[in-house]
Amino acid sequence: MLPPGPRFPAIAQTAWFMRDPAGLIEQCHRRYGDVFTIRWFGFPPEVYVATAELAEQVFRTDQGGGLAGAARRDFLEPLVGAHSVLTLDGDAWAGHRKSLTPPLRAKQVAGYADEIAAIAAEKIAAWPLGRPFALRDRMQEITLEIIIRLIFGIRDAGRMGRLRALLPRLIDSGGSMAVAMLPARLRGPAGSLPFLPYARFLKVRAAVDAILYDEIRRRRAEPGGTDVLSRLLDSGLGDDEIRDELITLLIAGHETTATGLAWAFERLLRLPDVLRRLPDDESYLDAVVKETLRARPVVYEAPRLLDAPLRLGGYDIPAGWYAGPFIPLVHQDPAAFPSPAEFRPERFLDGQQSRAWMPFGGGRRFCVGAQLALLEMRVIIREVLHRLELVAPDQAPEARRLANVTFAPAELTRVIARARTPARTP
Ligand code: HEM
Repeated sequence: MLPPGPRFPAIAQTAWFMRDPAGLIEQCHRRYGDVFTIRWFGFPPEVYVATAELAEQVFRTDQGGGLAGAARRDFLEPLVGAHSVLTLDGDAWAGHRKSLTPPLRAKQVAGYADEIAAIAAEKIAAWPLGRPFALRDRMQEITLEIIIRLIFGIRDAGRMGRLRALLPRLIDSGGSMAVAMLPARLRGPAGSLPFLPYARFLKVRAAVDAILYDEIRRRRAEPGGTDVLSRLLDSGLGDDEIRDELITLLIAGHETTATGLAWAFERLLRLPDVLRRLPDDESYLDAVVKETLRARPVVYEAPRLLDAPLRLGGYDIPAGWYAGPFIPLVHQDPAAFPSPAEFRPERFLDGQQSRAWMPFGGGRRFCVGAQLALLEMRVIIREVLHRLELVAPDQAPEARRLANVTFAPAELTRVIARARTPARTP
């Protein structure tokens, strides 16, 4: 038996999801239970699950190789190329994952903490005071700079400036419907018509690639840097593969981490009792970051494209369909997180961890940048709170809105910043 789901046409389900994803999914969960099907227009149907146990059964399909990469390939390949850990499967994926994992381990990234703090301090100093602005955009400037300096290892001021201008354009155009949804067979012809968005995207991509390939060549000539690119050079990957992985880390790690930070402040500015305990209590800060990603997970799904039929919760899902957790539903399961609507960092104190906490997905495809993301969030929250006092102009919580594969605060976390009054000395 197939999992149940809405009966109206796929085009209407897709349109509803794009307008109000949480509304559609919560309604399906109430009506059909922990396993249900959404039918997409132009893509295979997707089975969403709402508990940790069911999610783990889907993640277990990674053991046989699985097709997590294929689930993303069509949209991402123009941007990340053919050699990206995001879109590869099987042995090719395993080889790339083996190269990317060591430079992104907790121990390695811990060495970046001081430089992350310095980058944050530099950017925070330029924030406007006394008038509202969207915090998410400012956080993206910080996370982009971290990628340019610590992942790409670029130090030359001219190249840094060019990348600061080019990379946001690359991400915007590469993530736009006009590029991501263009069928592969039309990419060749579309690329040769200069007035089309696809051709403009190719131009930006060529400019970024020229810098990255040149940087790879230079760094091979002077080995020994501590940035991620330098560490990848010894891993056996070729230049094209390294280029694709650098863009992969940009795409996977830039907007996600900035949005996580935006949610952290969206919550903190409405919860004075939590805010008061920050930023100097290290373990509480860590718990706040984890609770933010529980209560407001940035990435809402971690789908697998099934290469074999899967029996799940009493249903049979055919090969060729997508299946995976709808992460916000798993995080709202009261069996896993009592009183799930409450923001309670205490859940994560004293090393407590729940298998239902899955903001970074699971199985063998678990987010390779999770340790870097958690470190960035802790360090940047601390730097902001040491330097500025932030308030929300409106105390009503910000709703969630869909931004590519992420849920972002509807107003991108509107805040007003004031200089922090120096602590009074007796
Ligand atoms: C708060 C920030 C972040 C969130 C919420 C997040 C979330 C995720 C999720 C849900 C997945 C899919 C896992 C799965 O399919 O089971 C993923 C994969 C991935 N993430 Fe992250 N991520 C974040 C930050 C980062 C950062 C900073 C980097 C690197 C610099 C990164 C690199 C990747 C890569 C390369 C993959 C693909 C892994 C694979 O398929 O083997 N992410 N991430």
